[in-house]
Amino acid sequence: MKKALFIAICTLLYSSVLFSQGGMWVPSSIKERIKDMKAKGFKLSAEDIYDIEKASYKDAVVIFGSGCTGEMVSPDGLMLTNHHCGFSELQKHSSVEHDYLKDGFWAMKKEDELPNPGLTAKFLIRMEDVTDMVLTGTEGHNVEEEKAIKRKNIDKVVQKFTEGTKYIAEVKPIYYGNQYYIYVYEVYEDIRIVGAPPSSIGKFGGETDNWMWPRHTGDFMYFRVYAGKDNKPAPYSKDNVPYKPKKYFNISTKGIKESDFTMIYGYPARTQQYLFSSGVDDILNYSNPAKIKLRTMRLDEIRQVRKSDPAIRIAYAYKEANIANAWKKWQGESLGLSRLKTIDKKIAYEEAFDKWANTKPEYKNVIADLKTQYSLIHDYALVQDYYKEAIMAIELLQAVDIANKWLSNSSSAAIPKIQSDFYHDYYPEVDRKIAKKLLAEYMNKIPPAFIPQDVITEVQLAGSVDKYIDNLFATSLFVTEDRLKAGITNGAIFAEDPAIKLYLAFRKMYETNVRKYLQEYNTNIEALQKTFVRGQQEYEKEQKTGKTFFPDANHTLRIAYGAISGYSPEDAVWYMPISTLDGLIAKDNPLDYDFDIPQKLRDIYSTSNYGRWDVNGTVPVCFLASNHTSGGNSGSPVLNSKGELIGINFDRTWTSTMSDIEFDPEMCRNIGLDIRYVLFITDKIGGAKHLIDEMEIIE
Ligand code: ARG
Ligand code: ASP
Repeated sequence: MKKALFIAICTLLYSSVLFSQGGMWVPSSIKERIKDMKAKGFKLSAEDIYDIEKASYKDAVVIFGSGCTGEMVSPDGLMLTNHHCGFSELQKHSSVEHDYLKDGFWAMKKEDELPNPGLTAKFLIRMEDVTDMVLTGTEGHNVEEEKAIKRKNIDKVVQKFTEGTKYIAEVKPIYYGNQYYIYVYEVYEDIRIVGAPPSSIGKFGGETDNWMWPRHTGDFMYFRVYAGKDNKPAPYSKDNVPYKPKKYFNISTKGIKESDFTMIYGYPARTQQYLFSSGVDDILNYSNPAKIKLRTMRLDEIRQVRKSDPAIRIAYAYKEANIANAWKKWQGESLGLSRLKTIDKKIAYEEAFDKWANTKPEYKNVIADLKTQYSLIHDYALVQDYYKEAIMAIELLQAVDIANKWLSNSSSAAIPKIQSDFYHDYYPEVDRKIAKKLLAEYMNKIPPAFIPQDVITEVQLAGSVDKYIDNLFATSLFVTEDRLKAGITNGAIFAEDPAIKLYLAFRKMYETNVRKYLQEYNTNIEALQKTFVRGQQEYEKEQKTGKTFFPDANHTLRIAYGAISGYSPEDAVWYMPISTLDGLIAKDNPLDYDFDIPQKLRDIYSTSNYGRWDVNGTVPVCFLASNHTSGGNSGSPVLNSKGELIGINFDRTWTSTMSDIEFDPEMCRNIGLDIRYVLFITDKIGGAKHLIDEMEIIE
């Protein structure tokens, strides 16, 4: 009786709290949300957001590179995104002599803007539900056949939507394949750096403040999209001209306050709101703890050495940020999932669903089958985590991985650029220390069936993991570019290189003992999840819970809306939603690399001369809002009720990061950079008034 009551309460909580807010909505069907958006303060129409007949805001939002979002802010192709999104490009242009990471970079004229081979900006031309076309002829087939038929159908759909154009298109499932959408993009490939603040502004607070509030990071960078003379995409050329976007955002400097409507338009990469309880258990109790521990080992080492040598600091800056970012996110995610008791709630919900499904042949076995598949995949999934985070995290094996792709079929002695780039940022003595710890941890934690016999033998021969790794680094030709070159010139037999042997031994083990099982069980889980999500929709409808479903993020364009909003991160604490220059100055510390602001900013502060950017005697810096965002939303425009740009999204608080699995309206906040701080820094630190003049600013 008590248990039944508990379940009933949990179910109620689950549907009322968990699903009361949050959501990443599909732009082409935003009409269905517009009433709710208007009730919350939005002033424009669905067509202003998304239209394929005339220009709409979707034309001002881009996929920046492979993982971030960017937005157009001028009629001349000026684009804003985050500093951390353009960081690796800026790093490539930087050296100890020209340290743009440290000093920032401002092109005072267009000729000085820095090109970035390989970097793209993708504009969405249209999206459309193509479910019927994708599923044609799939009925009555088994999982494997269905997959093959769908693949063929998808090829046809893509061809139909891109025929006679230079567009690219991709078809992606939503709701685990209950629906399919096509996304057609126009891809610009001449994207140049225009302006970046010094890292002491753009990365202010470093890893200490990453995922934290109060925040004072000026995480922005300007790029410009270039086009051929016809305004169409063209490869880099001196003769290219600034792209004229169909739409760009006006900038509002009117200011923001608690509870103002906000909307985020961007490309969240991945959420798993409908994940089965066992999947959450795997993340919380196995995968996250293992990955966090392995990354702690790498970070400890990098942080030791970077203090001693500025060259190592530059070489490892991007790597460290990358490793630390997910490392901290997982810690917050685990805390959040534990606090919310997500697993218990999911189990209770699944039990209630299972009871309901008892009389429905289609859904009757789905819960039991999901449990079985998750128990089958468990060990393999964990080995995969260790393989990626321990073995392939050894940089030397990444060097082998690159070489493996060209070495055997290249007759020339020249080393390809990608391999040289690797050595440019590589310090074997750092990697050697890390490799010892990672390999030892792998061999300690993973059952022998997943440790290659050759590796066990080699380690035994050497006497210990440490000695084995020392020998390997002493003799492998992949440790430096010079050794590799000499090896090629002298006709070395690479198959006998100890690094290649280690690499191949693990790859072979992974391919034969892990990959195919992972694939098989994942395919089964996907198919069952598809049924389960469809079942949930039916179940909720029958129960009249009024729950609205939104599809998980899948790196396609989405809209999230919410409000500027503080919150309580813990008992007796309230976070206010707006940070200012005063708080930034309070954190300033010339002795701490991550908090050492430019002298120029100190000088400006000491005279309080903020000119046009003065707001009540200070300058606003960052703000909190209650939009449901995820990785990939970095760089996304934060818009006010009139669709004007008020900020650039760049983060969440770390206690929010379980929002990828469960969104908690009380706790989950995204962090935006106030556009007024962007303009202030552009003007006063960058001295780039010409950029401000280029934008349309509504005061
Ligand atoms: N946490 C933000 C996001 O997930 C910013 C990451 C980059 N910054 C950093 N300090 N690592 O991407
Ligand atoms: N910082 C993330 C990004 O780079 C955004 C987030 O996870 O909230 O996309």
